[in-house]
Order: sequence, then C-alpha cells, then structure tokens
Amino acid sequence: MELHALFPTVVATDRMAMDPLMLAGQLQTLLSLRGEAYSNPDEGCAWTGDLNGIWQLHEHHDFRSLADEVIARVWIYLEQTGFDLDQIALHLQRCWPVLSAAGQVVGRHHHPNAHVSAIVYLSGDGQGREGALCLHARHQLNELVPGLAVGHGGPIRDHHPRNQHLWTFNPEPGLVVIFPSRLDHSVGENMDEESLRVSLSFDFVLTAQDSSAPAEYLAPHPHQWHRCERPLS
Ligand SMILES: [Fe+2]
Repeated sequence: MELHALFPTVVATDRMAMDPLMLAGQLQTLLSLRGEAYSNPDEGCAWTGDLNGIWQLHEHHDFRSLADEVIARVWIYLEQTGFDLDQIALHLQRCWPVLSAAGQVVGRHHHPNAHVSAIVYLSGDGQGREGALCLHARHQLNELVPGLAVGHGGPIRDHHPRNQHLWTFNPEPGLVVIFPSRLDHSVGENMDEESLRVSLSFDFVLTAQDSSAPAEYLAPHPHQWHRCERPLS
C-alpha cells in the first residue's frame, strides 16, 4: 500500500556562516539594547524587542548584512513553495531580538500581521537546553475527526510521525528557520542557568508589485495605498 502524505506545511531550515568576532559584537549590542529590562515584564517571559522599542534591528548597522542573508533565503522559500516571484513584492516589516534567560519561556502564539516569518539563532549548543523552538499544528488532518487525538493514553500513539502535532528545533548560532506566520509557535523553558538564549525574529509581508493592478486576494503595493484622514469631530 502506498501512503500519500498530502497538503504539507513547508518549514525551511538553513545554516548561515557566522563570524565569531561579528557574533560577539552582535551579542554585546543586543545586551546593551536590552539595558536594564530583563523580562516582558512577567519574569518568566523572555524579553522581546518588539515590546521594548527594538523592532527595526534590520536598520542597525550590526545586523544589516545578516538581514540581507535572511531576505535572500525567504525569496528562495517563496520560490520553492510555488510563488511566482514576478507577481509579488516582499517587505520586511519588522525585525526584533528575543533574549530568554534561565527559567524563561515564550508562550504559544502566531504573527497575525505577517505572511512569512523567520528566526535566526545567535546562541545554543544544538541540545535544546536553552529552550527548543516548538511549532504547533493547528489541525491534525490525520486524526480523522477533530478532537480524536486529545490524548489521555490514546487512541493515537504519541509522537507518531503521521500524526504529529508538534515539531521542535534546537538552536545553534547561524541556524535559520522560515515558516508561515500563521503557524503557532512557542519556546521551551531555558533550563541552562549559564546561558542566555538569543534569537532574532523577522516578519515579512507579501504584496503585489508596484504599479500592478492585483485582484483582491493580494494586497496592492503600499505605494498605492491611500491614507484615510480621521474626520474632525
Ligand atoms: Fe513569534
């Protein structure tokens, strides 16, 4: 019998060469950008730049070339998943650091503002002790009926590869992950007292190309948007 695994979600991973001196400088920069703040603000929640005014890291000279490398990979991701690159424009909307100290986590969430997201890791030993990235399946199509895989000992065996609801990825410096922004994700607890888990997040938006006349499913290019002034009351 042949089994056809249909309708896959594509998550891309890649390895980026990291210059040790540059990496040390980037880590130093991120620590100084974090400043006195430590968490978000609950002390069990990792510090994230988007909630602390550090959300345009791609404009910072220490991170421009790294952002360019991520952008190049996102174009490849889009091409590999079937997008006609001649019909779209890609916009980097936001780039921010996430610093997770011992005992901290990032709760399950997705990025409703974006289309494609990427993460680059600046720390980690590949073992996941600093907290693995977890991608969560919103639906398990192979549970046959929604709710059949709730657990409590069955009826579906835990971690069966054809009924996965979770995928984890252990950070290491230079590893890149690219995934649809709608995918729920979280970060496990940093169990390493000695290490700070450091990653950079990127949110991208697709629109039509400038001066085209797209159908309603694809947003026009922002140059063609009309800002609506609030009426005087
Ligand atoms: Fe996120």
